[in-house]
Amino acid sequence: MAGEGFRLDPWGTLEVKDYDRLRRVFGIRPFAEVIPALRELGFEPSLHMRRGILFGHRDFDRVVLEGIRRGERVAVLTGFMPSGRFHFGHKLTADQLIYYQRRLGFKVFVAIADAEAFAVRRIPRGEAYRLAVEEYVANLIALGLDPDKTEFYFQTNRGPAYYRLAQLASGKVTAAEMEAIYGDLSPAKMMAALTQVADILHPQLDEYGGYKRVLVPVGVDQDPHLRLTRDIVDRLSGVVELMRPASTYHKLIRGLDGGKMSSSRPDYTIFLTDPPEVARRKIMRALTGGRATAEEQRRLGGVPEACTVYDLYLYHLIPDDSELLGIYKRCRGGELLCGECKRIAAEKLLEFLEKHQSKLEEARETARSILEPPSF
Ligand code: TRP
Ligand code: SF4
Repeated sequence: MAGEGFRLDPWGTLEVKDYDRLRRVFGIRPFAEVIPALRELGFEPSLHMRRGILFGHRDFDRVVLEGIRRGERVAVLTGFMPSGRFHFGHKLTADQLIYYQRRLGFKVFVAIADAEAFAVRRIPRGEAYRLAVEEYVANLIALGLDPDKTEFYFQTNRGPAYYRLAQLASGKVTAAEMEAIYGDLSPAKMMAALTQVADILHPQLDEYGGYKRVLVPVGVDQDPHLRLTRDIVDRLSGVVELMRPASTYHKLIRGLDGGKMSSSRPDYTIFLTDPPEVARRKIMRALTGGRATAEEQRRLGGVPEACTVYDLYLYHLIPDDSELLGIYKRCRGGELLCGECKRIAAEKLLEFLEKHQSKLEEARETARSILEPPSF
């Protein structure tokens, strides 16, 4: 049971102060413990792994590392709810998919959670389709996910074996158990949760390739779905033999005011389609870890840990560790002031956006050509 009356709401607005505590409460293992074994197998950890942004896992060793050791196929699956524009929080997940696809050769599945978007956000179907193609799939491709090696699908379009799995899962859990995990649940949310269970498990079915080893990289707010999935796998034994999935958990990048980064808070969220000048203005207004006056900051130094601009460097804009450390030290030491630092960040951001956006039109065409609109 989720300890200490502590619950994660995958549909709520989560702000986590203490990731270590959260990890311990839910029995999530520290990701750092599997990095040496990954290296031993000949793979450099990704930027997010080595910087601790990917802070936790379940069964990464037993499912993923063991799969690599045995030369078995591994699939990675995650999902996006098409409920708004694609932003830097989504990019964090995208970067992980690209790492697994390019560096580790894993098969990639991407669920477009249109059923969930309709059930819990009331996004009309046409709008969900448009956002899926023009925003999510297009940005994923423009970031470098190879469309030839990725299976994108709409939940509402996935086929009978997938739905059958959701239905089987529904028989293996009680309403009280679901409420213990999620709190109060509407029927729509119950359906969405069981549909997500089917997302996570269906690559194991022969109909979808029979990938027994599945890794699910998500933000930690999605862990309730993984706990539910794991229980259901155990209880399906005898009906259909499945393996518990592995999962990894990343920290949630904060919005530019320190609150949640979310499409519903556009002033504090940087979208990958923001015109450069809009993005620059957002950065210049961002909450930093700076002091009240320049004099004070020179004397006491800034606090990068509290700074949303530093978050952007750490998660996205400065891949080079020694360059990042340089900024960290100059901030701490009071040599770098926030005005100059924001100009540096804006320059890096604009350079990224211009390059990314120049690939977007072609990526949109590709997205349109590979994604059929849901048929009913
Ligand atoms: N619920 C996820 C979200 O809110 C989307 C999602 C749907 C998903 N199916 C999934 C995530 C399967 C991981 C695995 O964004
Ligand atoms: Fe943030 Fe840069 Fe200011 Fe330090 S100097 S608090 S990293 S904006």
